[in-house]
Amino acid sequence: ATSARAQAAGFGFTPIGIHTDFDIHVPEGYEWRPLVRWGDALFSDAEGTYSAETGVPLAASDRVFGENTDGMETFEHDGHVLLAINSEYVNPRINLPADSEGMPKNADEVTLLKNMQGVTVMEIANGANGWDVVIDSPYNRRITHETQMTMDGPAAGSALMQTNADPEGMSPKGTMNNCGSGKTLWGTYLTCEENFNGYFGATGAYEETDGLARYGIGGEGRYAYEKFDTRYDLSAEPNEPHRHGWITEIDPTDPESTPVKHTALGRFKHENAEMVQAADGRIVVYMGDDERGEFMYKYVSNGTWSEGQPTDGLLSDGTLYVAKFNDDQTGEWLALTPETTGMSAEDILVFSRMAGSAVGATTMDRPEWIAANPLRVEAYCALTNNSRRGNEGMPVNAANPRETNDYGQIVRWRPEGEDHGATGFSWDLYVMAGNPEVYDNAYGGSDNVTAGNMFNSPDGMAFSSDGLLWIQTDGDDSNEGDFAGMGNNQMLVGNPETGEIARFMTVPNGAEVTGLTWSPDRTVAFVGVQHPGGAWPDGEGKPRSSVVSVWRADGAAFG
Ligand code: FEO
Ligand code: CA
Ligand code: CA
Ligand code: CA
Repeated sequence: ATSARAQAAGFGFTPIGIHTDFDIHVPEGYEWRPLVRWGDALFSDAEGTYSAETGVPLAASDRVFGENTDGMETFEHDGHVLLAINSEYVNPRINLPADSEGMPKNADEVTLLKNMQGVTVMEIANGANGWDVVIDSPYNRRITHETQMTMDGPAAGSALMQTNADPEGMSPKGTMNNCGSGKTLWGTYLTCEENFNGYFGATGAYEETDGLARYGIGGEGRYAYEKFDTRYDLSAEPNEPHRHGWITEIDPTDPESTPVKHTALGRFKHENAEMVQAADGRIVVYMGDDERGEFMYKYVSNGTWSEGQPTDGLLSDGTLYVAKFNDDQTGEWLALTPETTGMSAEDILVFSRMAGSAVGATTMDRPEWIAANPLRVEAYCALTNNSRRGNEGMPVNAANPRETNDYGQIVRWRPEGEDHGATGFSWDLYVMAGNPEVYDNAYGGSDNVTAGNMFNSPDGMAFSSDGLLWIQTDGDDSNEGDFAGMGNNQMLVGNPETGEIARFMTVPNGAEVTGLTWSPDRTVAFVGVQHPGGAWPDGEGKPRSSVVSVWRADGAAFG
């Protein structure tokens, strides 16, 4: 019955069951193969350097595909197909020599980790075996924690941005913890800096400010960077963390271009950046801050844009708003200005979380990806879970209605007047994930959750051009207790009109699914598999985060 219903809903495939193994599963009539794995060469001088026993050597570490693949986008340029792909973070126990026990013990090991993260730009081509990386393409590029960047917008150059190494506060280095992605309407890549806080630590005394505390910065860093590089040491460079946590724009078509951090879009733990346009042509960017009880934001440019027009100022001159979800299913975007917050323009951007609190934004259950429907003026945000909902200071509200929310939900909003530039909206919950086999209350999920499609912790999301919503999970894959019957993490497809949801793909145990883009002709989906367990995909040696190609065996387009 599930199959017939899904077919009837126009999904075009027979939904699959759960899996608990160390493999990938796709529907009957579909196939998959790895496109690129952690350690695969982008340049011929790095070919053959990956070792199943020891991983990636330092000398090749910025010449190969990075670790923990995440958000990605496809670009077409002069007859070339380019992918820009985030490498979010590292798995030090897998990436470092065993005697390091998961923590770098010297500067070289810190450099090794720095080089495995950031962004990969690479050309791909469709050959006899499907899509592969074009080794030595002039477009291939690695952007790491050390790549030279610049900044724009109202906070660029402010006192909060100035460091000993960069007294002008305009030339930060590195983009880090690159989580979700975005694509501008003019064909550049947006990489979103999420858990940047973990790279900073203190080797001595430093001032424990409210700003550092609100962003979880202080004490020891997660990767010992501060012990070997003063840039990451709060006692030496207290302003360095202010230079991270931004939306950073990269031109994938120009390997010599300098990435730009856009301060006008606010600083928080950025998940992704979904760009749409207001009815009058202004640029709108929806963004989530993935932390328990943090907020959803949107940026609206002052200038307008149409195809072929200059893009100057579009991401540096505008207004940042934060979302308030009222319990009557209305909502409003609250402008963050000196008048509404009592904060300076620079402080609003560098400490956006504090500005959001000042205006009474709604605390959310960890806003992950936001996806806008291409066929209708509405957008969706995956609220992945929130173990602390119901605790002091984080009471339930209508959009985040369950205490100790281990399953998550997807909230949808429709802007007033069918205009993404409007400040008012109405909202509903597209789905409340849950386990109807374990619970017959709110934790059993909404009506569109069944024993046949259940999942937890929606995270990645993207619409395909046919108006279907692809949902990727990053949840508990124990298949036990509250999660019994959900199996490994998965990618599902949702129909926005009927609410129906069908399981399309499962990934190896241990992995989350994150990142989705398509070949230009839409016959192949590229799907990210992050932190797999076992020895996937090689079958021996270390597990390797990978992007896989998925296609219909008959070659027809999907998505
Ligand atoms: Fe990097 Fe919130 O996921
Ligand atoms: Ca995510
Ligand atoms: Ca997640
Ligand atoms: Ca992740």
